[in-house]
Amino acid sequence: MTQSPPSPDQQESGKRAAGEAALEFIQDGALVGLGTGSTVKYFLLALGERVKAGLRVHGVPTSRDTAELATQLHIPLLPEQGEWELDVAVDGADQVDLHFQLIKGGGGALLREKIVAAAARTFVVLVDHTKCVPVLGKPMPVPVEVIPFGWPQSAKQLEALGGVPTLREKQGKVFETDGGHYILDWLVDSIPDPVQLEARINRIPGVVENGLFVNQTSTLIIGSPDGVQIKHNPS
Ligand code: 5RP
Repeated sequence: MTQSPPSPDQQESGKRAAGEAALEFIQDGALVGLGTGSTVKYFLLALGERVKAGLRVHGVPTSRDTAELATQLHIPLLPEQGEWELDVAVDGADQVDLHFQLIKGGGGALLREKIVAAAARTFVVLVDHTKCVPVLGKPMPVPVEVIPFGWPQSAKQLEALGGVPTLREKQGKVFETDGGHYILDWLVDSIPDPVQLEARINRIPGVVENGLFVNQTSTLIIGSPDGVQIKHNPS
């Protein structure tokens, strides 16, 4: 019997379940990295409710969108250029493999997201069940953030590694990240060794960062219409 693909409603309820379950990882007084995207939004809404009820936290947002929402929800934020030692960062992902490696950056916030994840003692990743795959890659491209100067040169070097890079556009214009960079969405058939590939991409001149998040995930929360599954990374 073939399984029908999940409906948008099922996917949304998985996102909500994962977002709300992440509250369990937030202690009173915590410094928290606040990720970006539609799954994390549910976490932020739930966190905002807790803050309203008296929970004390400070957040570091990974994008202007998240900063705006956190501010609306009265979640206090740390200065952008502070030296943070975060207890936990909570973020979404576009794909996750069996070894807790991720593709991120669908929303274009990968640079700040990687900085914030690296500043946190634990990195909690929220996905709905449709994001889990045996091996990273097609149909999900790896977002590669490049500086605008000479970006076609960076694209050519990416192409030499295999795969097809496409300059990201939004509403008919070249998409610009919060840092004023461009994104090349690089479609690769399969990524059996994300650790090696992550380092190779970042050696290309003009590349600022890429969306492979390797060996960073501490805990994965997978939401589905039936509830959540919490997996701790043994390595
Ligand atoms: C943004 C990201 C997001 O976390 C990722 O794209 C998942 O987003 P969503 O929860 O909306 O599916 O990396 O840069």
